[in-house]
Amino acid sequence: MKPDLQAQPSARKPLFRRVAVIGLGLIGGSLALAAKRSGLVGEVLAADRSDEELALGVELGVIDGYGTVSEIVAGADLVVIAVPVRATVAVLQALQPHLAPTAILTDVGSTKGSFVKAVQEVFGDLGPRVIPGHPIAGSEKSGVRAARGDLFEDHKVILTPPDNVDEAALEQLARLWTACGATVLTMEVNRHDEVLAATSHLPHLIAFSLVDTLAGEDQNMEIFRYAAGGFRDFTRIAASDPVMWHDIFLSNREAVLRVIDHFTEDLAGLRQAIEAQDGAALLRVFTRARAARNHFSKMLSGQAYVTDMSQKPVRFRLQPGGSINGDIRVPGDKSISHRSIMLGALAEGVTEVDGFLEGEDSLATLQAFRDMGVTIEGPDDGHVRIHGVGMGGLQAPRGPLYLGNSGTAMRLFSGLLAAQPFDSELTGDDSLSRRPMNRVADPLRAMGAVIDTAEGGRPPLKIRGGRKLSGIHYDMPVASAQVKSCLLLAGLYAEGMTSVHEPAPTRDHTERMLEGFGYHVHRDAATASVIGGGKLTAGHIDVPADISSAAFFLVAASIAEGSDLTLRHVGMNPTRTGVINILKMMGADIEVSNEREIGGEPVADLRVRSAQLSGIDIPEEQVPLAIDEFPVLFIAAACAEGRTVLRGAEELRVKESDRIQVMADGLRAVGVETTVTPDGIIIDGGQAIAGGEVDSHGDHRIAMSFAVASLCATGEIVVNDCANVATSFPGFVELATCTGIRIQSEEGE
Ligand code: S3P
Repeated sequence: MKPDLQAQPSARKPLFRRVAVIGLGLIGGSLALAAKRSGLVGEVLAADRSDEELALGVELGVIDGYGTVSEIVAGADLVVIAVPVRATVAVLQALQPHLAPTAILTDVGSTKGSFVKAVQEVFGDLGPRVIPGHPIAGSEKSGVRAARGDLFEDHKVILTPPDNVDEAALEQLARLWTACGATVLTMEVNRHDEVLAATSHLPHLIAFSLVDTLAGEDQNMEIFRYAAGGFRDFTRIAASDPVMWHDIFLSNREAVLRVIDHFTEDLAGLRQAIEAQDGAALLRVFTRARAARNHFSKMLSGQAYVTDMSQKPVRFRLQPGGSINGDIRVPGDKSISHRSIMLGALAEGVTEVDGFLEGEDSLATLQAFRDMGVTIEGPDDGHVRIHGVGMGGLQAPRGPLYLGNSGTAMRLFSGLLAAQPFDSELTGDDSLSRRPMNRVADPLRAMGAVIDTAEGGRPPLKIRGGRKLSGIHYDMPVASAQVKSCLLLAGLYAEGMTSVHEPAPTRDHTERMLEGFGYHVHRDAATASVIGGGKLTAGHIDVPADISSAAFFLVAASIAEGSDLTLRHVGMNPTRTGVINILKMMGADIEVSNEREIGGEPVADLRVRSAQLSGIDIPEEQVPLAIDEFPVLFIAAACAEGRTVLRGAEELRVKESDRIQVMADGLRAVGVETTVTPDGIIIDGGQAIAGGEVDSHGDHRIAMSFAVASLCATGEIVVNDCANVATSFPGFVELATCTGIRIQSEEGE
């Protein structure tokens, strides 16, 4: 006898009154169980070809009841199709007459294009409440007996909503999956099918094929008897349901064929390398693969095509007061780290780098060069070994190069890539996607490059390969080291001389490092020039500690009473020391010692002690020399006696955030009023810094600046959206804590 189809009354209003699951296998059953356990649904009913499975489902407590498709769909506000992909059309035909217009229809199939096609075939179009879904979870077991309420915990569920999706419905479905323990992502249908073809379907195909090949060998019993753990791990998925997988391959045919072709080509390459005893080729593939495997989770979370609906933002919680003491070394310089990878990759020979910044920005640069075929070992505790491919040795990347949060990377890459024989595309995160790129695209076009941007000169940048570049003279309208470096790098490939005039001195790491690699850069007052066609010779690079990261501690120790802090091995390139000059003008007590030059860059140790700071008019020529340090200098100004005025700093508005406005808003949130001007800010020091909640707008330097502000605050400061601190300063929270900042990092909702 079938159990009662009536809904059980529920204590509070459920998210869904009735969930109808069609197909009670491993996934359908596990979702039913997890949904019931979440307490968010009224009742879960199922339909299946097998009455035994349904009865077992009730007996095991997986479902509340069952019926035919028409019986369970009528009155359901969520219908989940969990049948093998190729049975979808028949199921849709059976349920169509009974589906309430307000019901959400979803599925759990591994291919999404086929589901969309099936819905279009049966319904005519995809309504706003049809939301295809795919939980990336499973096991090689099947049937309702294998159902587990925790199957989706810590797993991802990809929803591929249509453009016209009903947002409330999407939210409701996402909430259910989240309550089942899953992390919900959204993706475009075709992208989903391509990604899954590569990450799931191909590995299953290889596992099936490998086991089949070995099973057909003469000595098969011997082979399986002695199979090592690696074989077992690698082929576990060959025990999966053959019918389901046969459906998946036939439904995702095009995407799977594409990735099989890539793989076949690569496998043939490895075969050939072994045959030819080409150890370098093997090493190149294996180190690249190992690094990719090690950075897997980071790479996945950084991928531009994924929107993580439940990504937990990082928040800093800061208790007021404290003093700063200790002897520390902050991580490596970001600008120099980027450049070490770029020039090392293009050099002839092996470049060793020490002190490399293992932050997300420079790691994105490193990964992008790996994507262009460069073998890079590490980073291993700041050590990186780059096997240079020479000026002409880069290979076409297979997809867009994702550069995360880094404007520097995107602008310098555009110069390098404009001259390559292959097309390329540069993408980045939300913040980078809003930043202006015409400042490099325009002069590069004048050199002969072909570059497309999105509207308003924003990323992505699409760069056409195979262009011959000619040297130009460029008078930079803004003082930008990124623009200068971009053009000099393009100039290495251009015919004749490329020269760049800067309206004010900007950081010259590119010029110094080029010289270090044996490439002459001519310097004539404010103009730097290179002649194209030369080569770079590999060398050793010692990356100093980043003065931009040291800046937070220079201000922290200055404003917090009773502080005495030593910072070691800080980069003191005169084009970067604006922060020290400005702080000294304000009365800071900074002692510079042990000055030396390492690998073409000046370095020193700094000792900083608390001092009463005074407001100043910041000289405009210091602006480019302290361009990244203004957020924390604003905190110094707020703690100083008297007025600080900044002018000529409109560039701050196009950094990772509009740093003038975002800092002014943050200061206001903690009780400090400022006057914002188009090109700067006026800050009257001495106003009490109260507690409050600050939005960093995902800008690493804003987040760290307000961590410093807590030292002079009277109440708790909470800074939201701090995950990007990892782009430039990995380990910031730990280092800040050990020097005396009362900081806690939390994952928020
Ligand atoms: C950088 C140059 C500066 C700076 C950035 C790093 C570089 O940008 O703000 O953080 O490494 O060349 P601009 O050139 O846009 O001023």
